[in-house]
Amino acid sequence: MDHFNYHNQQLFAEEVAVSEIIAQYGTPAYIYSRATLERHWHAFNNALGDHPHLICFAVKSNANIALLNVMAKLGSGFDIVSQGELERVLAAGGDPAKIVFSGVAKSHQEIARALEVGIRCFNVESVAELQRINQVAGELGKTAPISLRVNPDVDAHTHPYISTGLKENKFGISVNEAREVYRLAKTLPHIAIHGMDCHIGSQLTELQPFLDATDRLIILMEQLKQDGIHLTHLDLGGGLGVPYHDETPPHPTEYAAALLAKLKDYPDLEIILEPGRAITANAGILVTKVEYLKHNEDRRFAIVDTGMNDMIRPALYDAYMQLVEVDRRLERPSAVYDVVGPICETADFLGKQRTLAIAEGDLIALRSAGAYGATMSSTYNSRPQAVEIMVDGSQAHLIKARADFADLWRLEALLPNN
Ligand code: LLP
Repeated sequence: MDHFNYHNQQLFAEEVAVSEIIAQYGTPAYIYSRATLERHWHAFNNALGDHPHLICFAVKSNANIALLNVMAKLGSGFDIVSQGELERVLAAGGDPAKIVFSGVAKSHQEIARALEVGIRCFNVESVAELQRINQVAGELGKTAPISLRVNPDVDAHTHPYISTGLKENKFGISVNEAREVYRLAKTLPHIAIHGMDCHIGSQLTELQPFLDATDRLIILMEQLKQDGIHLTHLDLGGGLGVPYHDETPPHPTEYAAALLAKLKDYPDLEIILEPGRAITANAGILVTKVEYLKHNEDRRFAIVDTGMNDMIRPALYDAYMQLVEVDRRLERPSAVYDVVGPICETADFLGKQRTLAIAEGDLIALRSAGAYGATMSSTYNSRPQAVEIMVDGSQAHLIKARADFADLWRLEALLPNN
């Protein structure tokens, strides 16, 4: 459930009319709802009840510092994949002791910085990374807390580009080799083994793959006991899907109940989850303006003022995202449109064959845009990125301003005259 609803045929974000926000800040604009974000975070946190747990919000889904600050105030942890994300979390007031660090390519500098600020755990993706972390920790006179990211070879039944837990994927350490790598980790002087981790993919709409992965991790965890390795946490990653169209993903409560049932013999084992999309997707919309309506022999097009530059999911994954009129009081003829952006690429669309009642100058909202929207945006075709606004009750706050054109080339330089 979210807080984007129609009142008198006008789309509202919480208590503020979307058209009023746009009158002030213009389009394209991402609008987030604080109440929705908080509701989704609590859904995960409450679902795990009294069992020791930590919700580590996946920063890659939405990294705006205002949003991270809202999470930090709830007591959230964070899942990061780069020093950039680490610095954002710190700038937003996040607690370093609640940060887990995932990602396949951690550099020497990134590892050193994470050790310096004292993160909770490195989710280690390879033997080479384990050795590098041991070395950097040694240089700094520290011990690095680690878990191994195990690739359980489970099919997540999602889009191949966001499936990560199959043996042909680049992520993690094979479930068949992980025991050996744990034994190696045990011998390394600057490594402290804390847990085990996996993340099998994103936008999962069924529980079974999560449960199959958990089973494999539990078997491995039991084997490790024979090697004198006792884990204190199990991190099951993110991945719970959201309804973009007609999907019916499990609710966090169902997911948590199934996990708690599997882990009932481990009352002290801390469960870490890394949800991103399930918290942010339906807490955000992307509002765009219709520039032109056009038709050729075959189709009608609604040409809008943003596209794959601000929201690449339809172009990249052929993702379906709902498009709705912002003001339904306007009496417009309804027609079927391909809603396309301004970018010079055929893949630049937000939705195809959508029935909309619109005219030139009207506003359209792309729903479920809070996850992997702004974070994956670019300035392709030299278009400044969408502004970002967070609504909190009856207030709308600008949380990312629109860049000036000169900002687009601020870090560039002319060649010297010669
Ligand atoms: N943890 C790790 C290690 C991850 O790689 C990811 C996402 C998450 C947690 C959060 O997953 P979530 O709960 O959001 O599903 N750009 C794609 C999604 C890529 C997900 C990458 N990893 C999209 O727009 O669908």
